[in-house]
Amino acid sequence: MAASALMNVMIAAARKAGRGLARDFGEIEHLQVSVKGPGNFVTAADHRSEETIYRELSKARPGYGFLMEERGQVEGPDKTHRWIVDPLDGTTNFLHGLPLFCIAIGLEREGEMVCGLVYNPILDELYTAERGQGAFVNSRRLRVAARKQLSDCVIAIGMPHRGRPDQPRFLSEYKALMEQVAGLRRTGSAAIDLAWVAAGRFDGYVEHHLQPWDLAAGTLLVREAGGFATDVAGEQQMFDTGSIVAGNQTVHKALLKVLAESGPAADARPHTQA
Ligand code: IPD
Ligand code: CA
Ligand code: CA
Repeated sequence: MAASALMNVMIAAARKAGRGLARDFGEIEHLQVSVKGPGNFVTAADHRSEETIYRELSKARPGYGFLMEERGQVEGPDKTHRWIVDPLDGTTNFLHGLPLFCIAIGLEREGEMVCGLVYNPILDELYTAERGQGAFVNSRRLRVAARKQLSDCVIAIGMPHRGRPDQPRFLSEYKALMEQVAGLRRTGSAAIDLAWVAAGRFDGYVEHHLQPWDLAAGTLLVREAGGFATDVAGEQQMFDTGSIVAGNQTVHKALLKVLAESGPAADARPHTQA
């Protein structure tokens, strides 16, 4: 199925920024051995990627607004459209030379996600979805996995790392899930977790404290691949609550139940950025 003009704009921006990220990733190896480490370099790579995407999308659709991880909210004269962009999702992986990171671009029209793209320039996997048109990876149509029993399922999860609150809640959810599923995985990129649910690699995905740019593109991918994506209460308030539960209809429902029964609900809202 041919991509729309809008999607082609997104693809061009992502490929351009992806070439930069891939080049920078090649440098990381050398920087790993320096005492100072690659931290500042990664921050610069992240900013360069955002700059490229911002420039390319603004050139192609001058009026649209933006919500970007680094730049924040940028209002455009066209109030009906907003790009939601994570220029580098999986920063910790990138920093450690792990090739699991991506660019994520979503487009919202009148508050509804209409286009989503997740691009991993190292694996050269380009995931795209347009509302009502299905989801694709490198032009191949995607479908969520069909497994129905949690005991057969591999589920991706997020973990609160050092300095983040909510570790007790995570541990009780982790225990409850661990007892029921075939395997749990932590990739370090929320957008890839969602893309891999859409691709049927993961049967489901659970995480809290995410930001809109982590979720915008991937939730559309899951839905367009025939899956379900909601917050932990089963509602569509993912951007406000920061929580996500995804999978096929049966797995999604089963995950909501396990999570609800795993212990006291905690504050799931996104962390404010440092
Ligand atoms: C992070 C990743 C990670 C998730 C974190 C996010 P970043 O995004 O998506 O998988 O667990 O909560 O902040 O910082 O690499 O863009
Ligand atoms: Ca990021
Ligand atoms: Ca992110």
